[in-house]
Amino acid sequence: MGKLTNSYIKAGLKIREATSNKSDYGHAFILAGRRGMMGAAVIAAKAAARTGVGLLTVGVPAEERFILQTAVPEAMLFMREEDHYPLDRFSGIGIGPGIGTDEVSEEMLVSVLVQSRIPLVLDADALTIISQNKKLFSCIPEQSIITPHSCEFDRLFGMHKDREERINTARDKAREYHIVIVLKGPETAIITAEEVYYNTTGNAGLAKGGSGDALTGIITSFIAQGYAPDVAAKTGVYLHGLAADITLNEQSMESMLITDVLNNFGKAFE
Ligand code: APR
Ligand code: MG
Repeated sequence: MGKLTNSYIKAGLKIREATSNKSDYGHAFILAGRRGMMGAAVIAAKAAARTGVGLLTVGVPAEERFILQTAVPEAMLFMREEDHYPLDRFSGIGIGPGIGTDEVSEEMLVSVLVQSRIPLVLDADALTIISQNKKLFSCIPEQSIITPHSCEFDRLFGMHKDREERINTARDKAREYHIVIVLKGPETAIITAEEVYYNTTGNAGLAKGGSGDALTGIITSFIAQGYAPDVAAKTGVYLHGLAADITLNEQSMESMLITDVLNNFGKAFE
């Protein structure tokens, strides 16, 4: 058991060398959004772009491509119905925010689960799909990170009476499936087979739709950059909360937008 502290996170951060180039910082692939839910894709993509990744590709439905291209010009696009290329060009893959839970989304998720040779970041609708078809658990690549809030956690693993019970279950499941579990909430817990860490940053200004989508982008970006899955999860959770705390200098918990939080990632890294 431990708490995420500033010095602990700082010690794990990679130095950005003066002579480096984009190929030193990986290529993240984010599958998010659908008609009416493109905000999830935009937020996850912006979050990845703000957290150091070298290249970013976002997989979106073709008809929604202009939204993403306009909102995040730093990202390349992958049209989900048209483009087919091997996943092995990516060093970090995140899937779930706003993808929906219909058959097409399920097929996409299954193909990613089966093809991927690297740990995935699984969130939101990806977790709902898995909770509706528990056989998919066995397809999750080892060391993948799942990021459920408490309702998503209960859908995956059954009803629990409180957080403590969830953390106990999470410890068992992290061991059973060889995954990292980020149990989100006011004091997010990062649970691996060996340890439980509690976050010390963040505030109720994050209690709004979109905050979780940002976290998916951030953790995917860190995985892409070569951080070990548990470090990517801890660093992502800590900085997400820290940037939200810094945002309180200019906004209130009521007024803060997740995009304000992303704009404060520079100060959080500092
Ligand atoms: N204090 C600190 N952090 C908080 C607080 C709080 N009071 N409330 C929320 N957070 C943080 C969580 O730790 C987490 O990182 O904000 C994030 C919220 O993530 P989600 O619960 O996944 O919320 P989000 O995805 O943005 O919005 C809800 O999730 O389950 C789907 O379908 C659902 O689209 C909906 C979406
Ligand atoms: Mg969510």
